[in-house]
Amino acid sequence: MSNRNVTVVSHPLVQHKLTLMRDVTAPTSLFRTLLREIGHLLCYEVCRDLETTTVEIDTPLERMSAPKLEGKKLCFVSILRAGNGLLDGMLELVPSARVGHVGLYREPETLAPVEYYIKLPDNMDQRLCIVVDPMMATGNSATAAVQRIKDSGAARIKFVCLLAAPEGLANFVETHPDVPVITAAIDRQLDDHGYILPGLGDAGDRLFGTK
Ligand code: URA
Repeated sequence: MSNRNVTVVSHPLVQHKLTLMRDVTAPTSLFRTLLREIGHLLCYEVCRDLETTTVEIDTPLERMSAPKLEGKKLCFVSILRAGNGLLDGMLELVPSARVGHVGLYREPETLAPVEYYIKLPDNMDQRLCIVVDPMMATGNSATAAVQRIKDSGAARIKFVCLLAAPEGLANFVETHPDVPVITAAIDRQLDDHGYILPGLGDAGDRLFGTK
C-alpha cells in the first residue's frame, strides 16, 4: 500500500528482531524482550517530529543554547492487552509520558470490538497521543480505540503497530485519514478468523504465555 500517512520502518534491526519474534519456537521471554526492544525503535521513529524549544544551559566548559522537548507531556495509549508489550519499550525512552489504557476484545463471531475498559489522562486536547497495539488485523479495534480517544478531545494522534494486514490498514486509513500509522511490516492478508498471515500468531498469548 502506498499512502503518505503510513510509514513502514524498514530498519534492519527492526526487521531482524521481527523475524525472531515471528518464529514459532521463540519462547515467551524472548518474545517479550524483542517486543520491548522494537518498542524502542518504533518510538524513536514516531517521535521524529516532536517539537523542541531552545534552553540556555551550562556545560562544564561553557554556556550554550540547547534543544529540549516542548509542550505538554505526550501520552501513550495502550490497547490492552498486547499493547502493553510495546508500551514498556516506549516508556523506557520517554519515561515522563502519561499513559492511557483502552480495553477491547474481539467478539469471536463478528470480530467487532467490544470496549470493557478505558482510562485516559487529562488534557488530552493538548497532548500528542501515540496509540499502541502490536497487531492491526481487521483494524476494527484500532479504529474504535482511536475514535474513543478523539471523543476525549485528542486532536493529534499517531498509531504504532508491529504488523498490519492490508485489509485492516485500509479500513483504518479510510476512517481516520488524519492519523499517521507507523508499522514494522504490512503482511499478506487475514485468515478466516481475523489472524494476520504470515503474522506471528496471537501477540497477547505469546507475550504473556497464555493459550
Ligand atoms: N491479533 C493477534 O494477536 N494476532 C493476529 O494475527 C490478529 C490479531
